[in-house]
Amino acid sequence: MSEETILEVKNLHVNFKTYAGQVKAIRDVSFSLEKGQTLAIVGESGSGKSVTTKTLMGLNAPNAEIPEGQLLYKGKDLLKNTEKEWQALRGNEISMIFQDPMTSLDPTMKIGKQIAEPLLKHNKGMSKKDALARALELMKQVGIPKAEEHINDYPHQWSGGMRQRAVIAIALAADPEILIADEPTTALDVTIQAQIMHMMAELQARIKSSIVFITHDLGVVAGFAHKVAVMYAGEIVEYGTVEEIFYNPQHPYTWGLLDSMPTVETDVDRLVSIPGTPPDLLNPPKGDAFAARNKYALDIDFEEEPPFFEVSPTHFAKTWLLDERAPKVDPSDNIKARWARWAKISGGAE
Ligand SMILES: Nc1ncnc2c1ncn2[C@@H]1O[C@H](COP(=O)(O)OP(=O)(O)OP(=O)(O)O)[C@@H](O)[C@H]1O
Ligand SMILES: [Mg+2]
Repeated sequence: MSEETILEVKNLHVNFKTYAGQVKAIRDVSFSLEKGQTLAIVGESGSGKSVTTKTLMGLNAPNAEIPEGQLLYKGKDLLKNTEKEWQALRGNEISMIFQDPMTSLDPTMKIGKQIAEPLLKHNKGMSKKDALARALELMKQVGIPKAEEHINDYPHQWSGGMRQRAVIAIALAADPEILIADEPTTALDVTIQAQIMHMMAELQARIKSSIVFITHDLGVVAGFAHKVAVMYAGEIVEYGTVEEIFYNPQHPYTWGLLDSMPTVETDVDRLVSIPGTPPDLLNPPKGDAFAARNKYALDIDFEEEPPFFEVSPTHFAKTWLLDERAPKVDPSDNIKARWARWAKISGGAE
């Protein structure tokens, strides 16, 4: 493959020291991000998505410890960065869009000025006038209507969807190599979510940044991501191209996520969520962390942690079901019905 890897995460572990003991939030996570591509990290609440992205920005909480791992970017391990080196990187080469636009905007500053600020910070010698002109361009790029008239507005004058577009414009201001979006649409209503996703997909095609996109909803990544990492209880349990994850998923947890995706046809009552709750990360269970919730669990799942089995050179899953001694199990009829529908629609997931 002619793909160029821009970021490689290798065997990352993140622990948090708490009064109750050590929370093992990220356990042996590895993935890579290719230039100009989008990697989606998908998992339920508490699976470690935000801790992973904060680690990529050098922004972990003070009680975090990283006993092991590497973050290789341009031949350097970012985990060895000093705070000064992180500051030079953040908002410049690596930018982040947070879940709630209100927390990332300054309510007392005009929006145009907030977009211009990172430009001035990272381009010594740029004039304020040029920075504002570029801010206007960025506002148009992220789909803010009549941008000229609104460049001097304050955040409270805008709707949630428009504010999130402003946050994206700020993140894009410095032409980052890597854009990290941590559930950028969950605070917005469904129609606005779809508009922002559409806008991001367009941007991705145009600006060629590499994107790490975090979500708990597998549905939003179809047609947007190139690769998908499915996270459960601090680990990646399945990793593959978007086609492999949607059409040939191997891990029962991925099946559960697929099952719980809404479709155009199904009404909300029929949504299946995965029964049970994730394990306690203070004392991760022996064996496969998903075993207690896995209706296909084998005896070995409660005893021994599964390795990653290679499904294809780009597709890996951490489940004993892929061991040659395991009984053959199929995903649910619900998922098969979904595949049949996708095949009919052809062109991807709904
Ligand atoms: N500073 C901290 N101290 C102790 N535990 C923490 C800290 N930050 C995160 N955790 C724990 O790490 C685990 C992973 O949290 P994380 O925020 O990454 O989840 P997430 O996948 O982003 O969930 P959500 O979808 O709700 O945003 C959780 O169990 C969380 O309680
Ligand atoms: Mg989170």
